[in-house]
Amino acid sequence: MDNRPVGIFDTGLGGLTAVKAFRELMPKENIVYFGDSGRVPYGGRPREMIRKMARQDLELVLSYDVKAVIVACGTITVAAPDVLDACELPLTGVLKAGVCAMSCVAGSAPLGVIATEASIRCGAFKNALSAACPGREIIDIACPEFVPLIESWHISADDPLLTDAVERALRPMKQSGIAALLLGCTHYGIIGDAISAYLGGDVQLISASECAAKEMRDRILSSGIAGGNGETRFITSGHTDSFDAEASAILGGWDVRSEYTAPMEVDEQ
Ligand code: DGL
Repeated sequence: MDNRPVGIFDTGLGGLTAVKAFRELMPKENIVYFGDSGRVPYGGRPREMIRKMARQDLELVLSYDVKAVIVACGTITVAAPDVLDACELPLTGVLKAGVCAMSCVAGSAPLGVIATEASIRCGAFKNALSAACPGREIIDIACPEFVPLIESWHISADDPLLTDAVERALRPMKQSGIAALLLGCTHYGIIGDAISAYLGGDVQLISASECAAKEMRDRILSSGIAGGNGETRFITSGHTDSFDAEASAILGGWDVRSEYTAPMEVDEQ
């Protein structure tokens, strides 16, 4: 038994989709969530800068004496694998878990993945999906408009700013007749309704956040470190008032009261 919290972090609001999934699976675990909303988005930045920011974020989360870490960010998972691998605690990113779920999608229709520019540029999702789903066509698309829209709270499936952006980004995906779409950026689960409304109910959406939460549950249970009293602590480098309101809505009515930490400085290169 280990009552220390599980650390979960992301560049902003997106990782809350992993918090929600993990809390449903493990109601008694303690959680510390860090959302770097003061520096979001990461997805258009150079890889080296993302690696530096990932190291800073991980160090911040480790300073809360956590027992395990969910890296609830596709961009960090694929841009900084070496930084994450160096962590000595049980750590789960969103790449392997999401790809594993996609490999179970039946049929021969193409499979899609959407993620940030940095994630798609490095090819990590496409390569991992091609290896795990041999013979299946893989279509990958970067959606750089989505994270800024979500962070500025354009999340409703009725919001024309969002629905136009979804249509612009996902038209080729719709035309290709995919069977399933991996949400390789954790923010995208927040706009799952708008994505589903555009693609149609036949396309299965697979949330990398939910897959990572399941993987962490399995690791905690198999290593005998479950324990806690169901507390969740939120840390944000953005405005606490808006974070609290948005996080409460994403989590389905929680009363979130976050703590502020100043955005960390990083070399602009
Ligand atoms: N939630 C992050 C991800 O999964 C968003 C990245 C960003 O800040 O652009 O990739």
